[in-house]
Amino acid sequence: MTRHLQLTEQGKLKHFLTIEGLDRELLTEILDTAESFVGMSEHQVKKVPLLRGKTIVNLFFENSTRTRTTFELAATRLSADVLNMDIARSATSKGESLLDTIRNLEAMQVDMFVVRHALSGAAHFIAQQVAPHISVINAGDGQHAHPTQAMLDMFTIRQHKKQFEGLKVAIVGDILHSRVARSQILALNALGVAEVRVIAPKTLLPAQVKTMGVTPIHDMDEGLADVDVVIMLRLQKERMNSAFLPSESEFFRCFGLTEAKLQRAKPDAIVMHPGPINRGVEIASSVADGSQSVILQQVSNGVAVRMAIMSMAMQSGGTA
Ligand code: CP
Repeated sequence: MTRHLQLTEQGKLKHFLTIEGLDRELLTEILDTAESFVGMSEHQVKKVPLLRGKTIVNLFFENSTRTRTTFELAATRLSADVLNMDIARSATSKGESLLDTIRNLEAMQVDMFVVRHALSGAAHFIAQQVAPHISVINAGDGQHAHPTQAMLDMFTIRQHKKQFEGLKVAIVGDILHSRVARSQILALNALGVAEVRVIAPKTLLPAQVKTMGVTPIHDMDEGLADVDVVIMLRLQKERMNSAFLPSESEFFRCFGLTEAKLQRAKPDAIVMHPGPINRGVEIASSVADGSQSVILQQVSNGVAVRMAIMSMAMQSGGTA
């Protein structure tokens, strides 16, 4: 159903809503396309005309630093016209429904919506409602998915590790509330890593964790042993509706990544984090700023990966 919604009849990307249902070939095509955009930031002229004449609307109903700005930069570098909706000042605050907002923007001949929303399924809903020529990109919906974040993370892993086969990856922290973790797990398994471990207290793991293609572990020493990649997640307090932890300091003691705990991973392991980071809660500053950290490279790669996804979706030409 989702695959059907995201892809054209020829199997090309039309919308990008979730990693679910996308195969290794398509994910690799996204990574390869992003590779071709990566060097552009060093050029004097940082633009290509691939989306000249197209209009892209960034609709962020939730706060964002990295995702919104890298989408804007990516669209600008593809020569598209970009509108950043200021949701706080929009008619949404006067009671206009999401669908009416979309209908009004559609009337302005928009070609693509980039959507972040606190409700899981918001981007799917919009993709089902818009005119056939419009593409929808999910920039994070509730606890459900953050597929462009997962793809920039896969790009960063491939940059450092060259291939996915044989890799052991640990995702640490608040898996329960994390849309990033859900998308990363789908992408890592589709791309063929050897093992995905999720390390967290039982209260921060989903009930159905064993069906997600991961190994759940509740101890950092055990979970980090010999891994190639460590992905840290922040505590998503905005999505917690009860007490999941005794305290942040206790969480840091047990699950925070310190230089000592990182010693358990392979010597060339990379440390990742989608951001925003909370220093001293899930990660020590010395690790976040240390030689194994690729956190800011993830942000840089976000531009190229989002350029790839937007250009592929706009060039597919067909209807889902
Ligand atoms: N990683 C991420 O989604 O960050 P922002 O919330 O700043 O976009």
